[in-house]
Amino acid sequence: MVKMAVKLMRAVQYDSYGGGAAGLKHVEVPVPTPDKDEVLLKLEATSLNPLDLRFQNGVNRPFVTRKFPVIPGTDVAGEVVEVGSSVVTFKAGDKVVAILNLLIGGGLAEYAVAKESLTVPRPENVSAAEGACLPIAALTAHKALVDIAGIKLDGSGPRMNILVTAASGGVGHYAVQLAKLGNTHVTGTCGARNIEFVKSLGADEVLDYKTPEGATLKSPSGQKYDAVVHCSKDIPWSRFEPNLSDSGKVIDLTPGPSAICTYVFQKLTFSKKQLLPFILIPKGDKELNLLVRLVKEGKFKTVVDSKHPLSKAQDAWAKIIDGHATGKIIVEQ
Ligand SMILES: NC(=O)c1ccc[n+]([C@@H]2O[C@H](COP(=O)([O-])OP(=O)(O)OC[C@H]3O[C@@H](n4cnc5c(N)ncnc54)[C@H](OP(=O)(O)O)[C@@H]3O)[C@@H](O)[C@H]2O)c1
Repeated sequence: MVKMAVKLMRAVQYDSYGGGAAGLKHVEVPVPTPDKDEVLLKLEATSLNPLDLRFQNGVNRPFVTRKFPVIPGTDVAGEVVEVGSSVVTFKAGDKVVAILNLLIGGGLAEYAVAKESLTVPRPENVSAAEGACLPIAALTAHKALVDIAGIKLDGSGPRMNILVTAASGGVGHYAVQLAKLGNTHVTGTCGARNIEFVKSLGADEVLDYKTPEGATLKSPSGQKYDAVVHCSKDIPWSRFEPNLSDSGKVIDLTPGPSAICTYVFQKLTFSKKQLLPFILIPKGDKELNLLVRLVKEGKFKTVVDSKHPLSKAQDAWAKIIDGHATGKIIVEQ
């Protein structure tokens, strides 16, 4: 029998829950084959998210099992090298940005397969790193501000006061910029070293979360927030509540058990002020296309905290664990 040669690629994977950066192993595995509705990408850049770490720590375990080994990473940019039989939008040679299946991943590798429906073209003036940073972080900021808070990115909506917590992080730095495209007054929270950075993104006011005044979340100019994009953790409802407008909403990106209880209680009591637990479910390419276009037009930018080669993916992972990124963390293939 003649054996076909299998093309191998470099990848980084873990084979059990937990283990942190040391749990990542460098391996050689077969290049994946695209299904009929998928494209095979030669990856140029992958951005990491705290979600990648939460998956390694087993956040999915109560709901779904994952097959090990796992190649983590979902937010990628690269070049199409092969297309499935039903793919119509892309051809080999196209530069793209894509979000990979959240439960399967595949981004810390030289090649990955992506659904055509979650892949968008990347214009020449948007770098691979800029593109790869967008999917989870910028889609989350967009969904929270546009779909839930109701701001209009063309500035046509009613004036709104927005608070972004952890405004210096991956989601937060996008949320400040997107909010400022609308008709808004934006307050951001961050550490002292990032105050000028968050102002440079367009925030009207900045609170240092490590000071007693900053910790109250009170706007220095007395604004009451119509919406909060809550990207940090462990702030009780009682601290948000006095700072909200009559029907102010807190969109909580990392809701714990007490946030869920608050949400249920507010539903039962028809509260106008609301805490809304949030989970991103990427559905189609429309919003990702819009975000890439905003970068292309210079209306919206990605700030990169640090870039790491695939051979040093553990360093990037350690930075995600550290939780002190300013902007996004990138692995380059
Ligand atoms: N539910 C969803 O679908 C969804 C989607 C995306 C993200 N998320 C979650 O949203 C959170 C933010 O994600 P990310 O990618 O933006 O994280 P990130 O980039 O790792 O955030 C790091 C930044 O947060 C700042 N920070 C940490 N604690 C803070 C606090 N108490 N107040 C103000 N700033 C603080 C840090 O500043 P210092 O260095 O100064 O401390 C750092 O600049 C994560 O927990 C992530 O899991 C959820």
